[in-house]
Formats: sequence, C-alpha cells, structure tokens
Amino acid sequence: MTSRFLKTLLDDASRPFRGGGHFAYHYSRGKLSSDCIFRELLKRGIFPSQGHFLDLGCGQGSLFSWLLAARRLYENGNWPSDWAAAPKPLSLRGFELMQKDVDRAARAFGPQHPVVDIRLGDMCEVDFGQADVVTILDALHYIDHARQQDVIRRIRAALPAGGLFLTRVGDAGAGLRYHICNWVDRTVTFVRGHRLPTLYERKLADWVALLSQHGFQVETLPMSDGKPFANVMLICRVPA
Ligand SMILES: C[S@@+](CC[C@H](N)C(=O)[O-])C[C@H]1O[C@@H](n2cnc3c(N)ncnc32)[C@H](O)[C@@H]1O
Repeated sequence: MTSRFLKTLLDDASRPFRGGGHFAYHYSRGKLSSDCIFRELLKRGIFPSQGHFLDLGCGQGSLFSWLLAARRLYENGNWPSDWAAAPKPLSLRGFELMQKDVDRAARAFGPQHPVVDIRLGDMCEVDFGQADVVTILDALHYIDHARQQDVIRRIRAALPAGGLFLTRVGDAGAGLRYHICNWVDRTVTFVRGHRLPTLYERKLADWVALLSQHGFQVETLPMSDGKPFANVMLICRVPA
C-alpha cells in the first residue's frame, strides 16, 4: 500500500508545477521523492491537525504543494492507516529570496489555490505576522549567525503557546558527513544561480542551546535518509 500511495502523493504534489515548465516540475518531483523529510513530517504527525503555516526560504513552494496534496488524499480516504492524519492548512504563506522561484510558485498555485501566498522577501527583513507553524528547510545557514539569532527571536514572537518552529540544519560537529553535506549544498546553490555561498552552520548542541535560549523545547531527529550527510531536523515547540 505505502509505495503505491507515495507514488500517488508524489504525482498529486508535483502536478501543479507542470505549468511552471520542465525545471519546476522535475525539481519538485525530484526533491519530494528523494528527500525523506517530506514523508517523515506527515508519517510522524509532527504538524498540528490544522493551522496557519509560514515557510521561510520556501523556494517554489514544494512543501506547500505536498501538504495540499496530502490533505486532499486524506479527505478522500486514501491515506495509510499507520500515518497520522494529514494537517489541514488554513493558510500557507511563504517568503523566498529568488524571483525565479516566486514566479514558478505563482504559475503553480495561481488563483485556484487561495490559501497559498508566496512572496519575494528576505527572511531577515520581512514581517512574519502570526503563524501556528513556521518552517525553514535547509535555508537558515545562508544567513550569518547574528541574523540567525534575530530570525529565531522573531519566529518565537510570531508563534502562540503550543506553536511549532520546524527546521533542518547541518551539524557542523559531524566531521566528514558535514563536509560532504556542505560541499553538495554549495554546489547546488551555485548551479541554481546564486553566488558561491558562505554557509553559517553550528554544532548540533549549539543549535539546540540557541533555540532553547529563545524559549523553545527542542527535539532532534537525524534526517539524511541513509545518505552520508549531517542533516538534522529540529522540532522546536513553544511550551503550551
Ligand atoms: C536549499 S533551498 C530550499 C528550498 C525549500 N525550503 C525546499 O525545501 O525546497 C534554500 C532556499 O532558501 C532561499 N533563501 C536563502 N536565503 C534566504 C533569505 N535570506 N530569505 C529568504 N529566502 C532565502 C534560497 O533562495 C533557496 O530557495
């Protein structure tokens, strides 16, 4: 059941990007199928049953398309019995630095998805407003340490009691796995049209300490899916 279901979920989640061209479609399809984080988020029921979502560094909105497809399948009764219920997104707001990604998102979602709102913006500058869930998947390390701290402070302020900040970072203390991860990241970022970036990682214990200082209860989960990477998902909850 699960592999057939995953194929259906992947087909549904990548379909909106067909209208955004060859790159948009294959990028999202590749990302959603090969990166375990999308599957694990749903399977483990990490998100609340419903809520307002904010994704910072959202790219073309692959996560949002995944969540919308998941909820549709769930409501149609096509859902694995051992997975948590799919969350109901009340709104899906995103900010992304690259105009090309924002344009692809606009072509993918359009007016037929009124809950989705993806805008051009730098997470270091935009107003976050309020949200129940804030996500930053593989983007926090592009901003320097002082800005990371400020973004985390503002995310905490944007969340209510019981709110969730979910992010994935690299563990700079993980030796060779971290260096491989770092090299892949710099190469992919360069190929996607950015300058060769400086990356601002921390050791896992330092990420946890920083988030705890800002009032989050932090749980860590390795999230590299058998690849030789040092990726860790940080599930940061505001105490209820
Ligand atoms: C590795 S990609 C991940 C994209 C998306 N989160 C995903 O999982 O598909 C990192 C994204 O963060 C964006 N980004 C980097 N710095 C940013 C900033 N200061 N504000 C907003 N977006 C940023 C990049 O343009 C890029 O699209």
